[in-house]
Amino acid sequence: MSANIIDGKALAAGIRQEIRSKIQNFTDAPRPPCLAVILVGDNPASQIYVRNKIKACLDTGITSLEKRLLADASEAELLSLIKELNEDDSVDGILVQLPLPKGFDEQKVIRSIAAEKDVDGFHVENMGALVTGLKGFRCCTPHGVMKMLESVGCPLEGANALVIGRSNIVGKPMALMLLEKNATVTVAHSRTKNLKELAKNADIIVSAVGKAGLVTDDMVKPGAVVIDVGMNRNQEGKLCGDVDIEAVARVAGFITPVPGGVGPMTIAMLLDNTMRAFENRFN
Ligand code: GUN
Repeated sequence: MSANIIDGKALAAGIRQEIRSKIQNFTDAPRPPCLAVILVGDNPASQIYVRNKIKACLDTGITSLEKRLLADASEAELLSLIKELNEDDSVDGILVQLPLPKGFDEQKVIRSIAAEKDVDGFHVENMGALVTGLKGFRCCTPHGVMKMLESVGCPLEGANALVIGRSNIVGKPMALMLLEKNATVTVAHSRTKNLKELAKNADIIVSAVGKAGLVTDDMVKPGAVVIDVGMNRNQEGKLCGDVDIEAVARVAGFITPVPGGVGPMTIAMLLDNTMRAFENRFN
């Protein structure tokens, strides 16, 4: 058996095309949507992520506003920049690239973003909306994963879903989104004792840990859907996920590649949220 590949790049390209046409046909606004992207410090991975997000904005017709602060900038400076962008009517979405350098209170910074401009969906108001099933911005990576599952017609109702990782930006919201679709959700983390057993029982595995080689073929039920959110470098310096893709692809029903899987979908959902923020303002 060889797993079907879920092509995140192609799926994301379709979503981007839809957004592009929506922008072209949106006549009720005096300007295109605008996303402000804040990068603090010089984390090399963050610089690449930010560059890709800005490129994607340009490609779809969204204006981007890149704001950079030095790693030794004060929290007050960052909060003041966010306040300015909150009050700026020409800005629809605000994103602060994470992680922030040491010394910043990440939660305080995220809370300072106006919830209606929080296109990452990290603000407590948007997270609370997810918990309670209310409308709000959904976190981009797990939302992108849900779109990928939907694209292959993966049954969610009553399915055993295992989320590996419990971060605020992927694992926790991922579990909630799967639960919202009536999956039976288990969240595994660094203190979990029987990961292999839990994984073997799962119809869907979403791994978001950041550890190459974590998910191996002997952990996967034949035909399961395996989604790899990990972004790591292997010993040869090549980009890879958490899943031993070659071996797991022989067992799984569907699998996502790294790169070209979840990553492009995260960006597509960010553009989608920015478009929604824009529409909320002008519709
Ligand atoms: N760092 C890693 N993933 C993300 C993301 O989706 N948004 C932001 N702002 N920072 C990140």
